[in-house]
Amino acid sequence: MRVPLVDIAAQDALLADEVLAAIAQVAKVGSFILGPPVEQFEHWLAAATGAAHAVGVASGTDALQLSLRALGVGSGDAVVTSAFSFVAAAEAIANVGARPVFCDVDAQTMNVSEHTVQDALDCARRARLRVRAVIPVHLFGLCAPLEPLRALALREKIALVEDAAQAIGASDANGNAAGRGGDAAAFSFFPTKNLGAWGDGGAMVTSREDVAARVRRLRAHGAVEPHVHVEIGKNSRLDTLQAAVLLTKTRSLAAWQAARTRIASRYLAEFARFPLRLPCLPDPPARHGWHAFVVRSDRRDALARWLRERGVDVRVYYPRPLHLQACFASLGESSQPVAEEASRTALALPLYPTMHDAQQDYVIEQVARFFEERF
Ligand SMILES: Cc1ncc(COP(=O)(O)O)c(C=O)c1O
Repeated sequence: MRVPLVDIAAQDALLADEVLAAIAQVAKVGSFILGPPVEQFEHWLAAATGAAHAVGVASGTDALQLSLRALGVGSGDAVVTSAFSFVAAAEAIANVGARPVFCDVDAQTMNVSEHTVQDALDCARRARLRVRAVIPVHLFGLCAPLEPLRALALREKIALVEDAAQAIGASDANGNAAGRGGDAAAFSFFPTKNLGAWGDGGAMVTSREDVAARVRRLRAHGAVEPHVHVEIGKNSRLDTLQAAVLLTKTRSLAAWQAARTRIASRYLAEFARFPLRLPCLPDPPARHGWHAFVVRSDRRDALARWLRERGVDVRVYYPRPLHLQACFASLGESSQPVAEEASRTALALPLYPTMHDAQQDYVIEQVARFFEERF
């Protein structure tokens, strides 16, 4: 049997007719740039997250970058972010002219905590860096501890920007949706995300009117009206066709999230008997978004090989922590031991809403056989 890591085609096949009809409607009206579906999708996202405003942009990476710019972060500033994540947050920091300051992650959650952020902040201040913001990442769909991080941000007078690219549908320890707790939050609608477009797409949400207005301006060439440019912006609008795709998919999102949660719960129960470190299941009202099911094992590479040889697609997220990436070498050496350990041990197993029982059985059976034959 072959089990893919994710199966976008199977999921999209369920509503291909509806999506194609929504696309045809955009074409019929000819409203390709900032057409009605963009605003409708922004309304949906604001309501879904509980934020006052949502602004659709071209990608999750741009949502991060434009949020930083809207908060006034730029040249000469520094921003703390996780060393164990996708590169986008650190890249956005660098692309606004600021300096990324990497912080370590918590050994249980693989997310930053108020302690790891505080350590990085203290260290950066000793080096006389001007830290202006922190970007926690809700990794794999698990919210970082937003309440303590908000308290830290207030105390330290820095902005809190959530990288919620992987966390649509997740909520924090207080039951607040990912994206609601900071000065701004970024979502990605990259096709493999829990809510995926048919191409690139992203959005930022915020409850600050000034930040929303500035991102709206920045995403459209810094213009306040046609051909009146008050600052240098860029072209980063959420494509109307992608907004139409996303709006159609929102109707299925709750069912997909429920399916992800069912599969993750089954994995958690079945894998408890193996020498694996399992992802954290937060207590209600917190809700895991289950973007990815990532286990940790000292025998990660052997387990990955074993599963791939038997048709189970697995992925290493993330094989090299960000502070050890060549593109950040000029920042100088730093040591983030938990992030480094996670990079050596973490492995994502297949998890997607249309994964049927036989595929789940097969993954569980192959993991079991690995440990039975090796120990
Ligand atoms: C944690 C994280 N942040 C940011 C991004 C960037 O999103 P995008 O690919 O839409 O630019 C991604 C996804 O790809 C991500 O996983």
